[in-house]
Amino acid sequence: MGFELAMKALVVSLVLGTVVAGVRPAKTMVPAMYVFGDSTLDVGNNNHLPGKNVPRADKPYYGINLPGSGKPTGRFSKWLQRRRLRRAISRGVSYASAGAGILDSTNAGNNIPLSQQVRYLEETKAAMEAKVGSHVVGDLLSKSFFLLGVGSNDLFAFSTAMARQNRTATQADVTAFISSLVSNYSATITALHKLGARKFGIINVGPVGCVPRVRVLSPTGNCSDGLNQLAGGFDGALKTMLANNKLPGMNYSIADSYNLTQVTLGDPMAAGFSTSDSACCGTGRLGAQGDCGPTASLCANRDRYIFWDSIHTTQRAAKIGAKAFYDGPTSFTTPINFKQLAHN
Ligand SMILES: *[C@@H]1O[C@H](CO)[C@@H](O)[C@H](O)[C@H]1NC(C)=O
Ligand SMILES: *[C@@H]1O[C@H](CO)[C@@H](O)[C@H](O)[C@H]1NC(C)=O
Ligand SMILES: *[C@@H]1O[C@H](CO)[C@@H](O)[C@H](O)[C@H]1NC(C)=O
Ligand SMILES: *[C@@H]1O[C@H](CO)[C@@H](O)[C@H](O)[C@H]1NC(C)=O
Ligand SMILES: *[C@@H]1O[C@H](CO)[C@@H](O)[C@H](O)[C@H]1NC(C)=O
Repeated sequence: MGFELAMKALVVSLVLGTVVAGVRPAKTMVPAMYVFGDSTLDVGNNNHLPGKNVPRADKPYYGINLPGSGKPTGRFSKWLQRRRLRRAISRGVSYASAGAGILDSTNAGNNIPLSQQVRYLEETKAAMEAKVGSHVVGDLLSKSFFLLGVGSNDLFAFSTAMARQNRTATQADVTAFISSLVSNYSATITALHKLGARKFGIINVGPVGCVPRVRVLSPTGNCSDGLNQLAGGFDGALKTMLANNKLPGMNYSIADSYNLTQVTLGDPMAAGFSTSDSACCGTGRLGAQGDCGPTASLCANRDRYIFWDSIHTTQRAAKIGAKAFYDGPTSFTTPINFKQLAHN
């Protein structure tokens, strides 16, 4: 998926010291990067999970932009194959899993929930300590970049559950739900900090009411204001939680995916996009009535689309995000950008 490629570029730039555009070499900024979250950051972990309802990007046209084959064999961290200890130390690990949410209950059984992803880091840490010692690992983790991107799936699950119960969420429902998300997110960050993490790059939830899969539910193809407000409410609470956190030695950067996406959707042409409401790969209206797969239709020029499939952005849109979060305008990161966080 697109975001994965751009985040790979970000990993390369942070770990190996090149810039996202890939030209200017610089010195190494962080020793490694550890990644947690959902499909926006899953590098193939779900390929290793059993079950037919597990979301996987293992079929065409996923991978179409990958260098070389263009096949959906993709890249994956292979952490679940337990063979990558050296790489875990020298580059980092992505534990992210498509479909995962902040809550264990979100899409339960079909992904690696965030709490389990943290437990996997615990295992990685123990294995690394056995190899190179706890002092080296403590130093490594404290200087490494912890990237988190999660929350959209919880919001989708909440809104689907409401629809299924044939009711509209009340303000009280929304408040309680958001506070459960933020308190579990906070517990996750505390757990990571306890394991030695100090630098947190946190991507907030975008205006998920504008993804083609949601738009197609409206006869006019409009965004869902309800879902966007839910995302905005969550992002606000997340920002407050982080600003109030008192974990010693912790630094963080919030990547404002919400604002960046709103700005891009507000004037797609300015960013070189011709289509902002439809999926490049999919079927039916807005390319959102069927999944991206071998029999789906594929747009002529994916660089002109914001959305690759009915939920995920294209590689080009993702690159714009990675660049903005890395060292873009201050309106897209709070209180510092990813580059400053890496340098801290
Ligand atoms: C919330 O967080 C706690 C602590 O990390 C975890 O044990 C629990 O499973 C989480 N609850 C849900 C519903 O995800
Ligand atoms: C949902 O609400 C609509 C209109 O209020 C009603 O016609 C329908 O029967 C309800 N469906 C269920 C499953 O309760
Ligand atoms: C749908 O979007 C159009 C413009 O794209 C806007 O004029 C209209 O008010 C929207 N409808 C609703 C119900 O929000
Ligand atoms: C990073 O964290 C340290 C320790 O809490 C703090 O003193 C410093 O001001 C933080 N730096 C930034 C840029 O937030
Ligand atoms: C969103 O980004 C735009 C463009 O950079 C900026 O003008 C605006 O202040 C930002 N809004 C928020 C809420 O950060």
